[in-house]
Amino acid sequence: MSGRGKGVLAGSGATEGERDHEVLLSAVRPLTEWYRKNKRDLPWRNQADAYHIWVSEIMLQQTRVEAVKSYYARFLKELPNVKALAEVDEEQLLKLWEGLGYYNRVRNMQKAARQIMDVHHGEFPCTYEEIRALAGIGNYTAGAVASFAFGIPKPAVDGNVLRVVSRLLCSEEDVMKAGVRKRFEREIEAVIPSEAASDFNQGLIELGALVCVPNGAPKCGECPLAGTCLARETGCQGQLPVKKKAKERRIEKRTVFIFRDGRAVAIKKRPAKGLLAGLYELPNVFGHLDGEAAIAYSKSIGLTPVRVKELEAAKHVFSHVEWHMIGYEMLVDELEKNCSDWMVFADGGELEDKYPIPTAFSAYTDIAKGNGRSS
Ligand code: ADE
Ligand code: SF4
Repeated sequence: MSGRGKGVLAGSGATEGERDHEVLLSAVRPLTEWYRKNKRDLPWRNQADAYHIWVSEIMLQQTRVEAVKSYYARFLKELPNVKALAEVDEEQLLKLWEGLGYYNRVRNMQKAARQIMDVHHGEFPCTYEEIRALAGIGNYTAGAVASFAFGIPKPAVDGNVLRVVSRLLCSEEDVMKAGVRKRFEREIEAVIPSEAASDFNQGLIELGALVCVPNGAPKCGECPLAGTCLARETGCQGQLPVKKKAKERRIEKRTVFIFRDGRAVAIKKRPAKGLLAGLYELPNVFGHLDGEAAIAYSKSIGLTPVRVKELEAAKHVFSHVEWHMIGYEMLVDELEKNCSDWMVFADGGELEDKYPIPTAFSAYTDIAKGNGRSS
């Protein structure tokens, strides 16, 4: 693999920068043609509604294409335009996002929708700079919306594109570094065809999703760029991209409670700030409580269990934290009469339809709803 930046390449007389430019430039036509022939038929393609594209791109940043399809359809059915998103109440918004994670992203989408109502009279802005200035929209999303919806030749560099480009250029630089991403953005911007910005950008993403796939095994035999790909030439495609490990995640132990009487389950609203802000959760405490301590906790909040059942352990991984959970299901009589004022009582249907509860709790909310392996 090559290092970066300094030298003149032996024999060719071209600098690395010039060589990179040539490799990317020679990819434009074959990639664009390949995309037109091979692209998947996805609900957010073949239309140029900036609002639709924006919604799909934010969802695609957090979940697989297959999973996004149903979220996307439901979201647009409930909130068909910017105005509807600007006006929807937060709880309903979070409910539409339940299961996708990164809830601040959808809160930012609502902020951006309100900016569009206030500053752009409800019309999605149509310049790169105005789109980039909206809440929660970074270089990637701005480039995607600008190029897919308006044909503006700005780059849209996501993880797929970083992988494809690092291989095409046989770059062993750490693609987790902001500086490397910025340089790739500049190098791509220099070759984006102004008459096919959308197909070229989507082609890079699609090639990364279908052919130049992650985890060491790109399908170079099917690749329209195999002839000019520098990683393929040197056989190092399996080792690229180089990604330095992110910092290790903190591990948090928690004990989760399903307090139920004959009718309802107790849930509570999370604080307005911090992880999973404003969503609902099953009552839970830090640490792993044994049965005795769990009963003591229960009594301390005014609930005396008449039956206690230990539930299976569960784990949920966030970007910076891992929750290692154990759980208890506690049958109490008359939740509402005995219980502290911070609790809300929900029946199975309300847990399903009304209250947004993060997926982190799903092992236990499934049981609370009556779909799980217990009770
Ligand atoms: N990943 C990110 N953006 C995408 C898109 N528009 N289509 C498919 N996969 C994607
Ligand atoms: Fe990726 Fe292989 Fe195509 Fe190079 S030739 S871009 S490594 S699939």
